[in-house]
Amino acid sequence: MVLATIDPDGAPSARTVLLRGIHPDGFEFFTDYGSRKGRALLANPGASIVFPWYSLHRQVLIYGTATPTNAEVSDAYFASRPHGSQIAATASNQSQPIADRGTLERRVRELEARYPEGTDVPRPADWGGFRVMPHRIEFWQGRTSRLHDRIRYTATADGTWAIDRLQP
Ligand SMILES: Cc1cc2nc3c(=O)[nH]c(=O)nc-3n(C[C@H](O)[C@H](O)[C@H](O)COP(=O)(O)O)c2cc1C
Repeated sequence: MVLATIDPDGAPSARTVLLRGIHPDGFEFFTDYGSRKGRALLANPGASIVFPWYSLHRQVLIYGTATPTNAEVSDAYFASRPHGSQIAATASNQSQPIADRGTLERRVRELEARYPEGTDVPRPADWGGFRVMPHRIEFWQGRTSRLHDRIRYTATADGTWAIDRLQP
C-alpha cells in the first residue's frame, strides 16, 4: 500500500509499505520510528493510504489516524521476521544518510557476530508498528465510459458508516 504522511514542516511525503494486518483498530504496518514516516506520524498522526489495483482499474483510499502498536505487538512481529531482516532492521537507522554501503555492511557483520543465526535478535526500541484507524474510506471503480463509480464511507459519531456517492 502507498502511505502518505505529513512532515513536521507541513510537507507531504509518500512511500510504499507492506500491509501486515487489518485489525479493529486499523490497518497495520511496521517500520523504523526514527524514519521520515515514523517521525512524521509521531508528530502528526494524520495518514492517507492508497491501495492501487491498476489492472482492475480500481483503488481504495483510506484517510485515518495512526497510532503506534504496543510493545507486545511489535515484539511478536519482529520475532516472526527472518533473522536477516532482524539484523538489517537493527543495522539501519532508516532514512538517515550514511557515508557509504561499506559502513552499513560492516555494521551488519558486527551484528551477525553478536547475534548468530539461531539466536534471538532484540527488537530495536525505535522499531515497531503503526495501525491506521480509518475515518473515511473511498472505493473507486473505473469504467470504460469514464463515468467511474466512487463510493465514500464516512465514520459517524454513533459508530456506523455514512455512505454516499461522489461524482467521478
Ligand atoms: C514493495 C515495498 C514494500 C515496502 N515495505 C516497507 C515496510 O513495510 N516498512 C518500511 O519501513 N518500508 C518499506 N518499504 C520501503 C519504503 O517504501 C521506504 O523506502 C522506507 O520505509 C523509507 O521511507 P521514509 O524515508 O519515507 O520513512 C517498502 C518498499 C517497497 C517498494
